[in-house]
Amino acid sequence: MDFSPLFEPLAIGRGDRKIILKNRMVMAPMITRLANGQGEVTPRMVDYYAERAKGGIGAIIVEAMDIEERAVFNLLGIYHDRFINELENLAATIKEKGASVFAQIYHIGLRGGFPGPNVLTIAKIQQTLELFSRAAERVKKAGFDGVMIHGAHGYLVSSFLSPLTNQREDQYGGNQERRTRVAVEAVKAIRQAVGKDFPIIFRMNATDFLPGGLTLEDAKVTAPLLESAGVDVISVGSGIGIVPHDPTLGNDQSSSYMVMPMYFPRGWRVEMGAEIKNLVKIPVSISGRINDPLIARDILVQKKADLIDLGRQMLADPYFPRKIAEGKAEDICRCIACNYCHGKRFRALKQIRCAVNPLAGRESEPREIRPAPATHRVMVVGGGIAGLQAAIGLTKRGFRVSLFEKEARLGGQLELAALPPGKGEIRSLLEFLIRQTEKAGVEVNLNSEVTPELVLAERPFAVIIATGGRPIYPKSIPIEKNMNCFPAWDILSGDTKSLGAKTVILGGGFVAAEIAAFLWEKGMAKDLAIIEMREEIASDLEPISRQNLLKKLQDYGVKMVPNFLIRQVAGGAVIGEDVGNGRGKRIEADTVIIALGTESVDFPAGDLKKAGIKVAFIGDAREPRGIAEAMREGYIAGLSLDPS
Ligand SMILES: Cc1cc2nc3c(=O)[nH]c(=O)nc-3n(C[C@H](O)[C@H](O)[C@H](O)COP(=O)(O)OP(=O)(O)OC[C@H]3O[C@@H](n4cnc5c(N)ncnc54)[C@H](O)[C@@H]3O)c2cc1C
Ligand SMILES: Cc1cc2nc3c(=O)[nH]c(=O)nc-3n(C[C@H](O)[C@H](O)[C@H](O)COP(=O)(O)O)c2cc1C
Ligand code: SF4
Repeated sequence: MDFSPLFEPLAIGRGDRKIILKNRMVMAPMITRLANGQGEVTPRMVDYYAERAKGGIGAIIVEAMDIEERAVFNLLGIYHDRFINELENLAATIKEKGASVFAQIYHIGLRGGFPGPNVLTIAKIQQTLELFSRAAERVKKAGFDGVMIHGAHGYLVSSFLSPLTNQREDQYGGNQERRTRVAVEAVKAIRQAVGKDFPIIFRMNATDFLPGGLTLEDAKVTAPLLESAGVDVISVGSGIGIVPHDPTLGNDQSSSYMVMPMYFPRGWRVEMGAEIKNLVKIPVSISGRINDPLIARDILVQKKADLIDLGRQMLADPYFPRKIAEGKAEDICRCIACNYCHGKRFRALKQIRCAVNPLAGRESEPREIRPAPATHRVMVVGGGIAGLQAAIGLTKRGFRVSLFEKEARLGGQLELAALPPGKGEIRSLLEFLIRQTEKAGVEVNLNSEVTPELVLAERPFAVIIATGGRPIYPKSIPIEKNMNCFPAWDILSGDTKSLGAKTVILGGGFVAAEIAAFLWEKGMAKDLAIIEMREEIASDLEPISRQNLLKKLQDYGVKMVPNFLIRQVAGGAVIGEDVGNGRGKRIEADTVIIALGTESVDFPAGDLKKAGIKVAFIGDAREPRGIAEAMREGYIAGLSLDPS
């Protein structure tokens, strides 16, 4: 495949000094919370960006920086000269590694509880424009190649562009041209501060995806005005994140158009970008689930955008561009859009992590590959993702690795995880791991169940126990014998063809919710209920994906019954009580599906340790959790096994 369109340089800027981007791939800004508590760049942040610059990206847009001081939680600031020194170090490091570097500057506005467009005085607007231009000056002083104004996602500038949040009747509101005025004035103020040779990128929404919000037609009015004001590149986004004090102005549903879950197709936003590109002469960049080199290439070839913004893909695999350039596209670890990076962790103000890249946000960790003697045999028990990941790392170090999987194929639960509606992207992770397992030359033994006795007999140097999880069967809930009863996993694996007229899913975690969607879409059951003891259904799913899934279940008419403590299944019904008031509850059922969680598969290892065999439990075998933990613990097991 000819990927050369991705590697054509692009000159941006309009002054005498153009900036040449060495290729068409740009890392989109992503808040990492790797800054320190004062909003300053840290060594770990420098390492994080350096790794991505080394990966061959054309330009990096460093994450959003606050132009006005506020209580920050490890977010970058640009509201004072004291930030310049470390930003200079960051910009220089990124450039040394071969990428151009831009800084995104923003005012959080409504989303941070600041006054919004409707109440800001003209004087305060002018002060804010001044903050933008001072910030851009600092970006220039720090040696960046250009600046990006964050005019998307519901932050201050974006909220001026949107009719949902801007109902002013003066020169800053009333129609789309006037709603664009703050953006235009910000561009002009910045231009005056930084001069004509400093490129300005503007990130704007193509639509807010909220009733009454900015539409594509509005965006098409705004884009040419920005071009006339002196913007050099338009970066197209969409959606509005949470506005804590008013959910009608931004919510999880709208967030999913900003940082979309895996239910969205790859490259889904491209056509919107193309409509904006048709209206302007300056380059336009587009993002949104672009994790496939072919899709990225085709966007350029079909002239739907000039640049490809890569967000989460650069977390999942910082070497995406370099692997394409070196003809190793098949070795790319794709972002699966699980939103582990953006969901609960992000809202809990934690540092950036990625489910499929165990090193994301931890680039400063030592990762020296210590060679190991081939005489040291390691048995890896279990061919799920934890076992595969460990086996790859150990084999690369030189250990003599044998991986054992009791089933006829590799993958463990990941095979099932990819089956519910919209989750097929997960399969790309499994394919990646299997390919890397083959390339590393791991000895794989399928249909091979290993017992502790066998390990003892083989006496390896070490055993990695990655036996994973199995569904919990509820011993405390009597289920009458003649009731149709299936474990959730069997439903997915296709052993069950059709169910009864009234199907009740026992347990309301995300797997239960996914099974309900699966059953409905396959036409296996239409009258469906989910019973959950906790207050919410699928509370273990990251919020953006959850919102999408629950919406779907509502549309399908699935009954969701929280606060229901199940006592028994008898007499054609699920019987229990309300968690709050203890009153009896009952739901008719002719079929029940058990989705009450996962427990670790036992593998008694006491005797192995006594015999001097090193033992490590990883992934769900240690404790049932998810992909991120299995990937990370597999990686650590591979890296850290001490050969002495
Ligand atoms: C329907 C479903 C959806 C999911 N969706 C998500 C999701 O969206 N996001 C997320 O983060 N997580 C999800 N998970 C959980 C995630 O898939 C698991 O946490 C992860 O795959 C665990 O990997 P593992 O390697 O630790 O264990 P497993 O995948 O359970 O692999 C263990 C392997 O060991 C083998 N084995 C067991 N005992 C032996 C033995 N004695 N000898 C040889 N082989 C043995 C098993 O056959 C299995 O292949 C989902 C799980 C399910 C079931
Ligand atoms: C953890 C995280 C932080 C983000 N922070 C920002 C940000 O600071 N500024 C911004 O404009 N977009 C931000 N985004 C949105 C991304 O830049 C990108 O537009 C979005 O993730 C969709 O593209 P993708 O599918 O390639 O990831 C963030 C996304 C994630 C996942
Ligand atoms: S955590 Fe998930 S969504 Fe985020 S970058 Fe990694 S794979 Fe993509």
